[in-house]
Amino acid sequence: MIEKINQLLATIDALTADSLDAVEELRIKYLSRKGLIPALMQDFRNVPAEQKKEVGIRINELKDRALEKINALRDSFATADEDTSDLDLTRTAYPMPLGTRHPLTLVKNEIVDIFARLGFVLAEGPEVEDDWHVFSSMNFAEDHPARDMQDTFFVEAHPDVVLRTHTSSVQSRVMERQQPPLRVLCPGRVYRNEAISARAHCFFHQVEGLYVDEKVSFADLKQMLLSFAKEMFGEQTEIRLRPSYFPFTEPSAEMDISCNICGGTGCSFCKGTGWVEILGCGMVHPNVLELNGIDSTKYKGYAFGMGVERITNLKYQVKDLRMFSENDVRFLRQFTAAN
Ligand code: PHE
Repeated sequence: MIEKINQLLATIDALTADSLDAVEELRIKYLSRKGLIPALMQDFRNVPAEQKKEVGIRINELKDRALEKINALRDSFATADEDTSDLDLTRTAYPMPLGTRHPLTLVKNEIVDIFARLGFVLAEGPEVEDDWHVFSSMNFAEDHPARDMQDTFFVEAHPDVVLRTHTSSVQSRVMERQQPPLRVLCPGRVYRNEAISARAHCFFHQVEGLYVDEKVSFADLKQMLLSFAKEMFGEQTEIRLRPSYFPFTEPSAEMDISCNICGGTGCSFCKGTGWVEILGCGMVHPNVLELNGIDSTKYKGYAFGMGVERITNLKYQVKDLRMFSENDVRFLRQFTAAN
């Protein structure tokens, strides 16, 4: 009897089933009223009295083990019903596709890195600004055309609040809270009310620079711009400064670099001139220093502002400004960089 029980125990432990029906068959075979285990129990009465205790314990054990086994087999199919049978918790995660940086960000980072090496620290200001920081503190006359509705986005019902039209507003934000020596770089987005085309957009990006100290000259400005141009566009790059006008600088200039697409011989990008304008600059107007709380008899400064889109066009030969904001992944995917 004990031997029979042991044999059955071994078979039951080894049972497998490939479907719920198969489990049911096993249940009938071992546990139903006419099954093998109840049949053993029937035989119990023939067991000699001195063995009854041990055999009784073993038969109960066998019955419990068979029940457990059948239930476990049934449960394994119940979970399969919830369709988790192919769930593999040891599998590695799906690889995350890495995006690429936006070309404007790549170029902005490169500009920031170059000026960081020249000792410029970052400063930022709000895109939604007040008239004072964008215009008045920058020495714009009350009737200056840049304040005109055609150029500036005003915030409705708040005539004093505008979307900044240039990052020069950050110059003012810095000077009003810090005394010289100042050497800051201010990257940011700016807005102008212009019809959108391949060459103009209602928002674009600038990087502004400001240096104020006791002895700052135009020669310092020119030398710094030359080394920037060479670092950005290559050692062979030349610069040229043309006299210009900005209310906040005096004297003012616009800087061209030798066209790095044709190497200065003339192409459609530089309209045959061999030169491309990339920034405005000049010596900070004494009025601007005074309006922002800095003693203009003691300090001088230079400032410059460049368009990030223009520089990106030159570096990557993008001909249509709208590409930068359409977010066509086929365009964006071309700009891969590790940084
Ligand atoms: N703010 C000027 C612009 O928007 C650029 C500039 C900045 C010129 C600083 C001179 C000095 O075009």
